[in-house]
Amino acid sequence: ADPAAVPEPAPQSAEGPAPELFTWEFAADPYPAYAWLREHAPVHRTTLPSGVEAWLVTRYPDARQALADARLSKNPGHHGRSSGRTGIPGERGADLMTHLLNIDPPDHTRLRRLVSKAFTPRTVATFEPRVREITDRLIDGFAGNGSADLIHEFAFPLPIYAICDLLGVPAEDQDDFRDWAGLMIRHGGGPRGGVARSVKKMRGYLAELIHRKRADLGSGQGGDDLISELIRASDHGEHLTENEAAAMAFILLFAGFETTVNLIGNGLYALLTHPAQRARLQESLARGETAPLATAVEELLRYDGPVELATWRYATTPLTLGGQEIAAGDPVLVVLAAADRDPSRFDRPDLLDLDRRDNPHLGFGHGIHYCIGAPLARLEAQYALSALLRRLPDLALAAAPDELRWRGGLIMRGLRQLPVTFSQ
Ligand code: HEM
Repeated sequence: ADPAAVPEPAPQSAEGPAPELFTWEFAADPYPAYAWLREHAPVHRTTLPSGVEAWLVTRYPDARQALADARLSKNPGHHGRSSGRTGIPGERGADLMTHLLNIDPPDHTRLRRLVSKAFTPRTVATFEPRVREITDRLIDGFAGNGSADLIHEFAFPLPIYAICDLLGVPAEDQDDFRDWAGLMIRHGGGPRGGVARSVKKMRGYLAELIHRKRADLGSGQGGDDLISELIRASDHGEHLTENEAAAMAFILLFAGFETTVNLIGNGLYALLTHPAQRARLQESLARGETAPLATAVEELLRYDGPVELATWRYATTPLTLGGQEIAAGDPVLVVLAAADRDPSRFDRPDLLDLDRRDNPHLGFGHGIHYCIGAPLARLEAQYALSALLRRLPDLALAAAPDELRWRGGLIMRGLRQLPVTFSQ
């Protein structure tokens, strides 16, 4: 027997009555409820906490199909409509909502092509020294203290600084960004006062930054950051309006921030609660091997990925999914966290197996909206986890797992805090 293997968990029970969704218990551990849904109601109509009715898709084959189905639109203008139409209704581009996750082809194809250059594995690799520098500086900040909250002191600031660098937000403004983002994450993304205020501040700031960079480019000084690239593209007739450039900057920030916080946070939590596998990973890092780390991060994405549900989709026409009829205008939510634990696709899906090879997880989505930031997210998570395990080898959880609180958002899954101790 493999001495490093974790004991196999009992299979998630699919027995008993229909589970209650969206409670605090559910936020702490949604996997038993998802096992029940996969078994008894794989395409399930439910009322969300907001009162909106939507379908939840929980089996892997249905999830994968839905993510790539052109009849499911990303355009919120289809919500509640009985007939299909394309294009965001009303004045397009009136605010920051005209972004990749809210539009369909051909606009989606055009806008995605413009930013895809910035996210090729090659371009992202040039970013590696900066990710190392940010990570090492953050660890320096608490390494002498013997204890830390790894969400607030580590997982949270790392992606914010990385995205600010990518966009070209000057160093002296990055702490403002950190504060605005902190407000958003604390309030869970709902339309509450603090969130609305920080969104407004970010919007104002981004508009001004785009103006400033446009002026710099005009006087021949422009940088090679992403916002400057977007302005160049729009100035060279690539059909990008200034508003679309601002919406793009905003969605990169939104899509790339809390997700990465949670990949690092959930990933560390999984490592700290599976000591034998963590020890084996640490040994491979000490030998200077990188392949096991990359495989481990993919498994952390599958096992407890940061995106619980893919973002909204709307049926543009009546359709059948997993044997269930769905009416035009109905919202469809693909539950990535449930699909990635589907025993019809993954061998022993409730087992964390950092060496898992056959792992086509949906943690970054699938189809034309597949996460454009995946190479950056992988770089950040791989370096963050390896740097922590190398520098603080006796890192240990400083709370019982049932004392930890999970944020009960609808789309994201992540810890509020992750207290740890280590020798200095
Ligand atoms: C899309 C996950 C990090 C930018 C998506 C989608 C998922 C996802 C599941 C598809 C949503 C859907 O189909 O409804 C993640 C995870 C991340 C991560 C798990 C980190 C661990 C990032 C980063 C960036 C980013 C770092 C950029 C800086 C985007 C963008 C889209 C997207 C722009 C929309 C793409 C499109 O619609 O064409 N992401 N993401 N993400 N992600 Fe990520």
